[in-house]
Amino acid sequence: MTALTLSTAGAATLRADAVVVGVAKGDKGPVVAPGAEAVDKAFDGQLAAVLETLGATGAEGEVTKVPSPEGVKAAVVLAVGLGAVALEDEAYGAETLRRAAGNAARALSGTKKAAFALPIEASEDVEAIAEGALLGAYAFTAYQDTKGAKGPLAEVALLGAKPRDKAHKAAAERALALTEEINRARDLVNTPPNDLTPEAFAAVATAAAKEVGVKVQVLDDKALAKGGFGGILGVGQGSQNGPRLVKLSYTHSKDAKTLALVGKGITYDSGGISLKPAGHNETMKCDMAGAAAVFAAVIAAARIGVEVNVTAWLALAENMPSGSATRPGDVLRMYSGKTVEVLNTDAEGRLVLADALWKASEEKPDAIVDVATLTGAMMVALGNRTFGVMANDDAFRTAVHEIAEEVGELSWPMPLPVELRKGMDSPTADIANMGERMGGGLVAGLFLKEFVGEGITWAHLDIAGPAFHEGAPYGYTPKGGTGSSVRTLVKLAERIADGDLG
Ligand code: BES
Ligand code: MN
Ligand code: ZN
Repeated sequence: MTALTLSTAGAATLRADAVVVGVAKGDKGPVVAPGAEAVDKAFDGQLAAVLETLGATGAEGEVTKVPSPEGVKAAVVLAVGLGAVALEDEAYGAETLRRAAGNAARALSGTKKAAFALPIEASEDVEAIAEGALLGAYAFTAYQDTKGAKGPLAEVALLGAKPRDKAHKAAAERALALTEEINRARDLVNTPPNDLTPEAFAAVATAAAKEVGVKVQVLDDKALAKGGFGGILGVGQGSQNGPRLVKLSYTHSKDAKTLALVGKGITYDSGGISLKPAGHNETMKCDMAGAAAVFAAVIAAARIGVEVNVTAWLALAENMPSGSATRPGDVLRMYSGKTVEVLNTDAEGRLVLADALWKASEEKPDAIVDVATLTGAMMVALGNRTFGVMANDDAFRTAVHEIAEEVGELSWPMPLPVELRKGMDSPTADIANMGERMGGGLVAGLFLKEFVGEGITWAHLDIAGPAFHEGAPYGYTPKGGTGSSVRTLVKLAERIADGDLG
């Protein structure tokens, strides 16, 4: 884990292995950003010219390393592009700083200590730079021989952030708690499915919750059978690794509002008897990213001390084909009492979520948000970086979308058109688990809506696109698990605590 410190030392005098400065894209070439004055001075005011000689323009994503001149303690100056932003009157946006810090941290893997001398005006900038650096420094090396491999940047020192300034200190502490939990969610997503079974996931959640005083309750296969959780059991019954329903409760106070989070936790989605073909199953360890996100969010909310109660429900199962697996044509009796005809065992996420949503609804929370890598159709609609937001309340859907935008997560509001419901009519059961192919992401949302308790405000985040990043890393986004939606969920909890919502 990468350490974070705030320092009032000068950028040139702090003992570190590298010093990170910002460079913006100006009309006439690169422009050194505020925060790097002392470093620029050591270059006799010629840092921008030196960078331009090396081909730097200040474009976003660009990193340029320069050996330090006399007078700078760190051996290397790393200039990171901030893009073409307003250079004088406007402050740098949070996402610009977050991405730049992430690019710098990635370029500094293998380095012990880096001083970040990026522009800081307010505590929001402290938070953004800390988040970007700590998320960018992430590496998943648990299954590799790391001898010789570059470990993550070990220490981030933020210059210009004042340790005695209460707002700066709180911003850094929030960023540290949040990013450590996001990185833990990434670890869970990246852990291979032979090791991360539902039971193993429940054990990780239990241990983490105990550390921060969050209450845990785990229902195993026997308890699920006794409780009548036909959806979770139906999906899990083909696997040797039995399903679990984990409840994590962070209670701030009795009279605080309550936000319930429900996560899809399919530790491996083979498709079941409706088996996925090769080419579609290699990354299906990521199908528990929703559960990892709500787990990270509840632990982060507890660590930050948000004045709201947060309950997270992790619906954990492995979707495998076998002699004991659910067949296409089977009818499941769900926890809500409704019956579902399983037409396609690969539409399993909605089955485990339905039981967890109904269970969460029984406690009458002020709002429910579920998070799931639910449909390939949502990826077709929105691409690989944007999650879909559906809801039974227009204002709540808008609020979630806007909060996501504020924290730098891409999302888009999607409708739940009632006319798609009839496609799920079943001749045998109350509903089928599949409907029309067109609008498949919305069909899945409509299915879930039927398992939300009467009168409860609910939103559904389909993170199938952004949960797992297969391309080259960029900004603070690594290859593999991303921790998608955690920042949105924690900010939503904070908004509810502020009385702005719910
Ligand atoms: N886990 C998948 C959705 C998914 C696909 C997530 C690709 C991430 C990347 C889900 O369980 C699934 O298989 N959905 C089916 C539903 C269909 C059978 C109605 C789909 O999207 O094809
Ligand atoms: Mn599936
Ligand atoms: Zn799935």
